[in-house]
Amino acid sequence: MCGIIGYTGTLDAKKVIIEGLKSLEYRGYDSAGIALLKEDPEHSLYIMKEAGPVSVLEESTKEDAVKSGCGIGHTRWATHGGVTDQNAHPHTTGRVTLIHNGIIENYRELINSYNLAEQLVSETDSEVALRIIDYYYEKYQDPVKAIKKAVGVIIGAYSFCIMFAGDPGKIYCIRNVSPLVAAASETGALVASDLTAIVPYTRDYFVLPEDTIAVLSKEGITLTDLSGNPVEPEMLHADWDVESVKKGGYPHFMLKEINEQPEALENTIKPRIAKGLPDFTEDGIPDSLFREAKEICIVACGTANYAGMVGKSIFELLMRIPVNVHIASEFRYEDPLVGPGTLCIVISQSGETIDTLEAMKLAMEKGAKSLAIVNVKGSTIAREADHVFYTHAGPEISVASTKAYSVQLAALYLIACRMAYVRGALSEQAAAAFLQQVLKAVPVIQELLKNVVGMKHVSEKMVKAKDAFYIGRGLDYAFSLEGALKLKEISYVHAEAYPAGELKHGTIALIEEGTPVVAIATQEKIYQKTISNVREVKARGAYVTLITKKGKAAGSDLCDIHLEIPEIEDEFTVFPVAVILQLIAYYTADGKGLDVDKPRNLAKSVTVE
Ligand code: G6P
Repeated sequence: MCGIIGYTGTLDAKKVIIEGLKSLEYRGYDSAGIALLKEDPEHSLYIMKEAGPVSVLEESTKEDAVKSGCGIGHTRWATHGGVTDQNAHPHTTGRVTLIHNGIIENYRELINSYNLAEQLVSETDSEVALRIIDYYYEKYQDPVKAIKKAVGVIIGAYSFCIMFAGDPGKIYCIRNVSPLVAAASETGALVASDLTAIVPYTRDYFVLPEDTIAVLSKEGITLTDLSGNPVEPEMLHADWDVESVKKGGYPHFMLKEINEQPEALENTIKPRIAKGLPDFTEDGIPDSLFREAKEICIVACGTANYAGMVGKSIFELLMRIPVNVHIASEFRYEDPLVGPGTLCIVISQSGETIDTLEAMKLAMEKGAKSLAIVNVKGSTIAREADHVFYTHAGPEISVASTKAYSVQLAALYLIACRMAYVRGALSEQAAAAFLQQVLKAVPVIQELLKNVVGMKHVSEKMVKAKDAFYIGRGLDYAFSLEGALKLKEISYVHAEAYPAGELKHGTIALIEEGTPVVAIATQEKIYQKTISNVREVKARGAYVTLITKKGKAAGSDLCDIHLEIPEIEDEFTVFPVAVILQLIAYYTADGKGLDVDKPRNLAKSVTVE
C-alpha cells in the first residue's frame, strides 16, 4: 500500500523517480509527489506533490528542469487524512524530507508528547514521524542518531525514505513490517516498495532487513543495525525482466495477465514434477509436514481467500481431512482453534498483506506449522513462514488479481495431490493422473482464450446492470465467489455470489426482469440441482448466462447465453471457469470506460490493517 521510491546516482533523478512511480502506481493512486535535492550550492529542495494519479504529477513537473541526481517519490493510498495536495507525500520540514508507507499507530500520543499539534500542516501520521526525526536531527545534527531516536518512540508499520539537506546525495531508509527492497546498479542506488521500479536498472537486489538503517549514495548502499554494526544483506535475483512489467501491446495489464495464465501455470507446475508426481524437494517442503498434519487451516484475503475456498473442497475430497478457510482479518481476533497438528496454509500474491502476515504469525505462535503460497520472492510472508511454495506468475500489476489466482489454485492442487499421496489417500497412479489433469488446465485455457466473443457478449448486458448474481453449488459456488468479486471490484456493478440452492431463502426476491445471473454448472453430480435453480431465476425474468461443460443442452427457456468450457474433469473446471469470469469482468469494466487496472479505492498490496 503506497508506493515509495528513492534514487541517488548519475542519472536524472526526476526521470528515474517519475518512471518508478508509474510502475509502483498500482500500490495506490490517490496522490503522488516527488522531492529532489538540487545540485546547487545550498542543496535546495524541489518538491511537487498533488492529489491525483502520477500522470498529473508528471504533467506538472514536465517543464521543470531540475538538476538533481538524488530524490524520493511517493504514490499514496490514503489512510490518515483525505486525498489532498497537503496530505500527499513527500512531507518536509526544516532540513528533513520524508516519504512513508505504513501506519504510525501511536501518532496521537506522539503529537501530545512532542507538542506537535501547532506545527502540523497535514492530517497524516507520516508528518508526525517527520517532525520527530526533524526534532532529533536538529538536536544531534546526525541523521542516523535522529532516525534511531525516532524509531525508538514510533509504534506501527513503516518504511521511511528520508533526505537530509545537510547530507546531500544520500537517502536514509528504515522499515518495520512495511516492505522495502534496494539495489545498487552501475548508475546509482535505488530503493523501492517493490521490484517493479528496480528491474529496469538491475535484477540483483535485497530486501532491506527490519530495524536496519540503509544509507544510499551514488557509490552504493551501506547497512547497519541499530547498534551500529554492519549488516550483510541476503542478495536475491529477480527472474522477471523489464518487459514483464510493461503492457506488451495489450490495452491493460489485466488483459495481458489473463492471457499470461497458461505460461504462469506451466512455470508453477512443471518444475515441480518428478517421476510423474508433484515433488517439493527443491522448495525444501518435507513430506513430514503433510504426514503429521491432523487438520488444515487456510488463511488469506480477497482473491487469495477465494482460491483457498476451492482448495478446501479439493483437500477434503482427496483426504477427508477437516479444512477451515479463514479471512485473515477475522482469524486474528477470533481466538482461532489452531495448534500443534494444524497445517496453516497461508496464501498471498504479494506476500505483504498485513492481516495475512499477522494471522500466520498467530497460528505459528499457537504451535501450527505454516506453509505460505506466495508470488513475490523474498516478501515478508515468504520470509517468516516455516515453508514457502513460490508461485511463478511473474509480476502481477493490475490491481484485480487474475493470473495469481490461477497459480494459487495450481499450488493448492499440487499440495493436495502430494499430501494425499504421502498419506496414502491417493495411490501413485491416481496421484499421477490427478497431476495430469492439473497440467491439462494449460491447453484448456489456451483454447478458451482463442475465442472471447461469448464473454464480450455477456459484458454487453453487464455494462447496463446495477446488480448481478453469480450462482453455483459446491465447487461451482467457490468459483462464483471470485467471479462476483472480479466484477464488482473493476466494473462497480454490485455483484453477489450465492449458493444456488440457498437463493430461494431470500436473495431470489432481488431477481427482476433482466437481472443478470451467471450460473455455473460444471459439476456433474449436482448438475441437475443447479439447473433447477437456474430455471427458478429464469422464470422470474433473469437474464441468464449459463456456464457448463461441453455437450449440455441449454435452450432459450433455460438461459440467454450458454458458454461451454473445453473438456476437463469436474474437479479441475475452475481453471477455465476462472478465465471466463475474469473476461466477463474485464470487458464489462472496459465497456464502461473505467480504468481497469486501477479501480477506485483499491490497492494491490494491502499493508494496513
Ligand atoms: C488486495 C488486492 C486483491 C488481493 C488481496 C490479497 O485487496 O486488491 O487483488 O486478492 O489484496 O492480496 P495478497 O497479495 O495477499 O494476495
